[in-house]
Amino acid sequence: MSLRLSRLTLVLGVLLACASVQAQETAAYFKQNCMSCHTIGGGKLTGPDLKGVTERKDREWLTSFIVNPKAKVDSGDAYALQLLDEARGVVMPTIAGIDAEQAGFLLDLIEAESALEESQFKGIQISNEPFTQKDIDTGLAIFTGRQSLKNGGPACFSCHNAPGVGVLGGGRLDPVKADLTKVYERLQGRTVLSTWLMSPATPTMQSIFKNASLEKDEIYSLVAYFENSAQHGEVGQASAQLTFALFGIVGAALALVLFDVIWNGRFVAVRRPLVDSEKL
Ligand code: HEC
Ligand code: HEC
Repeated sequence: MSLRLSRLTLVLGVLLACASVQAQETAAYFKQNCMSCHTIGGGKLTGPDLKGVTERKDREWLTSFIVNPKAKVDSGDAYALQLLDEARGVVMPTIAGIDAEQAGFLLDLIEAESALEESQFKGIQISNEPFTQKDIDTGLAIFTGRQSLKNGGPACFSCHNAPGVGVLGGGRLDPVKADLTKVYERLQGRTVLSTWLMSPATPTMQSIFKNASLEKDEIYSLVAYFENSAQHGEVGQASAQLTFALFGIVGAALALVLFDVIWNGRFVAVRRPLVDSEKL
């Protein structure tokens, strides 16, 4: 009896564990493949807010849409065309390798998250208040690596450049993506940029930050910095050039002083004993 009971518990346990592993995998999948365009309860990004979507439309329709959005749009389906219109003509891309089963898991997840007071996929809500100079400076410090990332990610500066730091170096990958000068405009402002940074959806960024995600306050400061540089890019650039020139002058002066010290030291160290011994 007790053996049977414990076996039953075991089976149930395994089933529950499987379900929760599935849920976790689906959550990770959503974060990586959907969140750059959709929040759940955080408002619209490139795509609509998915909160309560399973109440707006039936499962069958949603499944076939998620598996192949373009086919649905091309079929002339009225609801798909309405969505397309609301999304200003952006068609949702087909996610590589997605099938009806995966879409089903995703819809389960969206339904469960929609029922919560606050979904983990709400994204970051940044008010329209102007950023302070401190926010901007903190963002720059994070960008250059002067302030290290809490979860251990590498400094942006090792691969990217941006105004205010571009002249001093910054890695250069694909020249367009590597230059974050205009990223604020490219990613359409505060909400999209911050949600994007929460779960970067591109190959390199995703693999770096998947296990070292940026904290909300770090994203906030970075967005402040990018917004400011989008608005005052020229100024940042000019002051960076000035800084660079100053570094050059100060550096050269320092080097001279250093040489002098080393040289003097040598002179003293070699000659003094000789001089002293002669005196004896
Ligand atoms: C590049 C942006 C983008 C990505 C990534 C994306 N979507 Fe979409 N999604 C859209 C857009 C835009 C629409 C509006 C329909 C259209 O224009 O194609 C949409 C519509 C939807 C809809 C219908 C919404 C409604 O209100 O009825 C669902 C459901 C959906 N997406 C789910 C997903 C899921 C799940 C993923 C991840 C597997 C995903 N999307 C990834 C852009 C995206
Ligand atoms: C190891 C190199 C590396 C580091 C470190 C890195 N990135 Fe990236 N980033 C890339 C690459 C490569 C791309 C181009 C897309 C891709 O392949 O992921 C990119 C793309 C981006 C984009 C999208 C640009 C666009 O126009 O679509 C943003 C925004 C971005 N990175 C921000 C950051 C921020 C903020 C940091 C620091 C917290 C950072 N990156 C650190 C390599 C890096």
